[in-house]
Amino acid sequence: MASERISILDGKRILLGVTGSIACYKSADLASKLVQAGASVNVILTDAAQQFITPLTFQAVTGHVTYTSMWHTDSSGGLPTHIAHVGLSENADMLVIAPATAQHIAKLANGFADDLICLTALNCRCPILVAPAMDGNMYDHPATVENIRKLQERGIIVIEPDEGRFASGLVGRGRLPEVPTLIGHIRHHMGREWGGLRDRHVLVTAGGTREAIDPVRYVTNRSSGKQGYAVAQAALDAGATVTLISTPTGLPVPINATAIIVESAQEMLDAVLEHSNAADALIMAAAVADYRPLNVADQKIKKTDDVLTLDLTRTPDILQTVGQQRKQTGQPYVLVGFAAETQDLLKNAKSKLRRKNVDYIIANDVTRDGAGFQADTNIVTIVGADGNTLSLPQQTKSAVAEVIIQRIAARLQTIPHRQRK
Ligand code: C5P
Repeated sequence: MASERISILDGKRILLGVTGSIACYKSADLASKLVQAGASVNVILTDAAQQFITPLTFQAVTGHVTYTSMWHTDSSGGLPTHIAHVGLSENADMLVIAPATAQHIAKLANGFADDLICLTALNCRCPILVAPAMDGNMYDHPATVENIRKLQERGIIVIEPDEGRFASGLVGRGRLPEVPTLIGHIRHHMGREWGGLRDRHVLVTAGGTREAIDPVRYVTNRSSGKQGYAVAQAALDAGATVTLISTPTGLPVPINATAIIVESAQEMLDAVLEHSNAADALIMAAAVADYRPLNVADQKIKKTDDVLTLDLTRTPDILQTVGQQRKQTGQPYVLVGFAAETQDLLKNAKSKLRRKNVDYIIANDVTRDGAGFQADTNIVTIVGADGNTLSLPQQTKSAVAEVIIQRIAARLQTIPHRQRK
């Protein structure tokens, strides 16, 4: 399957520094995935990295020459100047050093300039991401801890390594994270630099709630959580701080989102109310059950009778509660609800807008092919409280999420940032 283009990475110039750790086999895949996402990638390899992987590997996946020497001059015209370290840094929107060895972290922390990566890093004025990779004892060593702290104090973003088994056979913290995790950090920090929701806090709900019948059974719906997770990712790509309140979906939590896992509508309401007053926007993409069993049996219900009758009672309406509350508090500034309908789509969406005091309803007819639950695409109409409606053609849930986030960002532009605590 072809990799998806990622809007925030599309057209961005990423300079990838690869230092001499066995983990640099992952860097080739990272370079390839960044290119597939739409980025233009230049690679610098240290001498030690070339013990593990060759310049040709990166040349093949990026389509650009790989830089290996601080004495390199580039007369191809591809860089703004022929002096490689200046040209590479001037030409970069972000420098990513992955893997970064203990040696290179120490050199960066002390401002060394004796190889092309260090030299270029000194000249860089773009964001720098460093992904350490080394054995656990080296990562925990006070010298490395001190060096990492120095880098962070200078605004360099250090990606926490994973815990697990090293090539040495030992176990500890120091493994280079997998490529999707690295990409997750890169896209979020690109968003922090260029996105429309920098310094904004976005709350997203996702998944279908589970309403308990007894200790082993529950009532739920067909929601997969995909649209809500895509909204959370789009908000991260726009640079927001994201809290994702989700039911268990089995989907990977987008990197840098804070996930709160809940089951029932009541638990979701409690979590939303805890966070909504500090949020700039709330997007209720969750399919919240409208009814729950009136009584939850303490023990598993036995199959004694042919017919089992469950009494159901209404669950709290989360969106409506927040919509009412913000009449007093003013927050969240932007409220977005979803309307999954099987009939009278626009009529229902408009009545929901008023009843729940929300700014936008994302209406989708879940009976249409390529829309609604489980699908990777959606067909939605965005209905605004200002009377505007926008019907989008069938597109990926990620693309739909981006349009929603752009709307929210545009609206928030008219609202000043709350004073930071
Ligand atoms: O009224 P209806 O359930 O169709 O409204 C859908 C919107 O309201 C969705 O955004 C959903 O997340 C939210 N909702 C809610 N609490 C409920 C039911 C729905 O917040 N109990």
